[in-house]
Amino acid sequence: MSDKQQDKQRKKNKRKKRPPEPGEEFMAKIVSLCKRRGFAFQSSEIYGGLQSSYDYGPLGVELKRNIKDEWWRSMVHSREDVVGLDAAIIMHPKVWEASGHVSGFSDPLVDCKECKNRFREDHLVPDDEGNLRCPECGGELTEARQFNLMLKTHLGAVEDSSSVAYLRPETAQSMFVDFQTVQAAGRLKLPFGIAQIGKSFRNEIVVEHFIYRSREFEQMEMEYFVEPGDDEKWYEHWRRERFEWYSRLGVRKENLRLRDHEEEERAHYAKACTDVEYQYPWGWGELEGIANRTDYDLTHHAEASGKKITYFDPQTNKHVVPYVIEPAAGVDRSALMFLIDAYCEEPAPEGKKEGRVVLKFHPRLAPIKAAVLPLVRKDGMPERAREIVKEFFRHSVNAFYDEKGAVGRRYRRQDEAGTPYCITVDGQTAEDGTVTIRERDTMEQERIKVDEAVRVVRDRLATALD
Ligand code: GAP
Repeated sequence: MSDKQQDKQRKKNKRKKRPPEPGEEFMAKIVSLCKRRGFAFQSSEIYGGLQSSYDYGPLGVELKRNIKDEWWRSMVHSREDVVGLDAAIIMHPKVWEASGHVSGFSDPLVDCKECKNRFREDHLVPDDEGNLRCPECGGELTEARQFNLMLKTHLGAVEDSSSVAYLRPETAQSMFVDFQTVQAAGRLKLPFGIAQIGKSFRNEIVVEHFIYRSREFEQMEMEYFVEPGDDEKWYEHWRRERFEWYSRLGVRKENLRLRDHEEEERAHYAKACTDVEYQYPWGWGELEGIANRTDYDLTHHAEASGKKITYFDPQTNKHVVPYVIEPAAGVDRSALMFLIDAYCEEPAPEGKKEGRVVLKFHPRLAPIKAAVLPLVRKDGMPERAREIVKEFFRHSVNAFYDEKGAVGRRYRRQDEAGTPYCITVDGQTAEDGTVTIRERDTMEQERIKVDEAVRVVRDRLATALD
């Protein structure tokens, strides 16, 4: 069955038999808000949409950029021992043989003999008798068969086995393949890391929960190379550090946890692995994995390429094959998690008719930092407000001008976009050179000097992580 047919079948089954999944109603609100406000929506929608492909609109693209900037700031720009890389998506096919992806990067696939839906066998929960049945219609399932997740393509004009190439299923491998070049260019000493943000592709059997699991997604990965023997110490370090990154960015602690993998869960290359998990509306799910990859990758690439991939330690005069600790996070999963965690519905305050939906993003992640609003469209207020917006732009702060509708409505529109500060130009501005600044979460307003509006917002953004 094609994706479209499967989708149709699922909808049909949903209508008939299946009780709603936990959190389905809440997720429907998130998906609807994402489309309405331009965070993320189905790709190619005018052609009926392509299952599992999503486009990020004006607010979504800013949110994703901010997540990536925060990751880069904490992993690369705040450290002397980590450098960046931006490698090609299509690598030599032998990379994926050496890494074990051609032979081992697969999921067990089962089909329902009745409704024909497809499932990952390892995601199914046995019934009371210990049997696996179709979770959609209860039907009998086929035997599991292994399905390789790499997306294949052909390079050049001839489509035969000699032109096969793969879209990378993880960004990590280029950090191993380029290890020697990057180390030499930067004259890097152990321990050091190579970080990369970029697209990866997996032909997932089941795509689910909006942007949580799709076939095209972005990863933020860092390979941290250490002396063999120091690996466990650094594994603990990155486990802690990555957990704290999410809480520093305001994620509610009760919704975050670290979960160590059981032995049978671990990837073929890992000596130890922990997931940072978030309590999504449907249950706990992986946000990021931190793995001790040992010297598996460097050793296998050295063997397969015939090239020496080692680190020369000037102190001991010896060549060593470093061990690798890898924190590997997903941009799209983080974006969904930050949206869910930030989402609040607040009832109408006393004496007011309307409540509000507010996205309480950490200010550094908010797509728009400041909205500038003239109270009315006259008396020079729009012109003054536009000057303030320009001033924000001059200081690289993403600001937004809005003059449409009653000011209360405009505040609520910004609350729903997660904008932390609203600056309003009113009648008093022309008299004493002040404007109001409104805080999104408390809705409190204070007057500040118009010339200080940009500085005040920038200071609050800068201190927001302390
Ligand atoms: N290099 C190791 C690696 O790729 P992974 O746990 O398979 O490990 C790392 O992937 C992160 O990439 C995951 O924690 C998740 O955030 C993200 N990710 C993986 N597959 C994804 C998918 N199909 N859709 C969205 N994000 C995905």
